[in-house]
Parts: sequence; C-alpha cells; structure tokens
Amino acid sequence: MAKLLHIQASPRDRSHSRAVARAFLEEYLASHPGDTVETLDLFRIELPPFDGLVLQAKYNILHGQPHTDDEIAAWKRVEEVIEHFKSADKYLWSLPMWNFTIPYKLKHYLDIIVQPTYTFAHSREAGYKGLVTGKPALLICARGGEYGGGGEAGSMDFQRTYMELILRFMGFEEIKVILVEPTLAGGAQGAKEARERAIVEARRMALEF
Ligand SMILES: Cc1cc2nc3c(=O)[nH]c(=O)nc-3n(C[C@H](O)[C@H](O)[C@H](O)COP(=O)(O)O)c2cc1C
Repeated sequence: MAKLLHIQASPRDRSHSRAVARAFLEEYLASHPGDTVETLDLFRIELPPFDGLVLQAKYNILHGQPHTDDEIAAWKRVEEVIEHFKSADKYLWSLPMWNFTIPYKLKHYLDIIVQPTYTFAHSREAGYKGLVTGKPALLICARGGEYGGGGEAGSMDFQRTYMELILRFMGFEEIKVILVEPTLAGGAQGAKEARERAIVEARRMALEF
C-alpha cells in the first residue's frame, strides 16, 4: 500500500497540467487498488512564511547555534511540511511554466522542504547527498510554447530543468517527465492535440508507476 503525493502547482480550473494529472491518477487508482493519493494544491494551502525568523532558525542549525522560542515555533511549522512531504512513497508534480520557470508557490514549497539534514546532507568530505531516495517522481509540465525539441527554445526552459535538478539534489533518481506543449502557441487545435497526446502518455505511465 503506497501513498502517492500529487503536488499541484496550477491555480487554473481549466489547467492543462491538472487535466493530464487527473487522467494519470484515474488510471493509477484503477491499476493500483489499495494505494492512496493525496493532492496538495499549493494555491489553496497556507504554507509557513519563509521569512527572517525561519531563516535565522535555519542558519542556527547550520552553525550549531541554539534557537529562541519564536524560532523553535517557526521551525516546527517548517518541519511539519517536510515531514508531510517525506511521508509519501511516490510523487506526482503537475506544474505550469511561468516566465520560463516554475510558479512562485511551488518555489515557496521547495524553499521550505529543501533543507539540510532533512532532505539533503552535506559534509566537507562527501559533499552533497540527497536524502529522499528510492522514490519515483513524475513531472507533468505544461507550457504555452514549445521547448521540448531542444535548440534555442530548449535553452530557455528553466521549468523542467530546474525541477529535475532540485529533485536530483534531494536524492530522486527515477524522474519521468510528460510535456504538455504547446498549450498556447499552436492555437486551440494545437492545445487540444498536446493535451490528448499527454493524456495518452500519462495513462500509459500510470500503469507502471
Ligand atoms: C504568469 C504566466 C507566465 C507564463 N509564462 C510562460 C512562459 O514563459 N513560456 C511559455 O511557454 N508559456 C508561459 N505561460 C503560459 C503557460 O505556461 C500555459 O498557459 C500553460 O498551459 C499553463 O499551465 P496550466 O494550463 O496547467 O495552467 C505563462 C502563463 C502565465 C499565467
């Protein structure tokens, strides 16, 4: 009985990434009876602020300094989010490209969960080591333009590349990607075809995820 955590980073009801994620989850639940799925809608939950207090707590940990009471309380909220994240066995991330990268709510979430001693370790001798290991991740990346073919457009894709980088940094090794593109540049017909292609891929991947 595995727990799949779906981290949803588009606020749009008519979102392409969300539609493809829905198709994936429908097929996943049908083919993995007994598994559970939880969707974390990043535009609907309230994340703890990543502010001066939390940063002071973070740097205290890095430098082996004690916390004040306020810092303890602020850090506890961060720990709860990390604990919840790490409680899953599999991860589905559905996200739009915004200004060539990821939406700010997703960056906020990542700033909270990517923490030394929790999701990665560092030592002078061994360097950096991810601590979230042995868990598969699937990225569903929607974008208005087309970047998947590489070339000049590919070099502007800081959505997929950043997500792959940060997941690897946390220890993920098995990272699959479904691109939903172009959702704008090809007009309504192009978007329809992109979504349909991605849904077929998602349903296929769900069977063996
Ligand atoms: C604030 C904002 C910024 C965007 N920036 C880009 C961009 O840099 N490149 C791109 O190809 N599309 C961009 N788009 C278009 C979205 O990537 C596209 O509509 C995509 O389908 C959104 O995903 P969703 O349908 O899951 O919400 C942007 C859209 C918004 C709302």
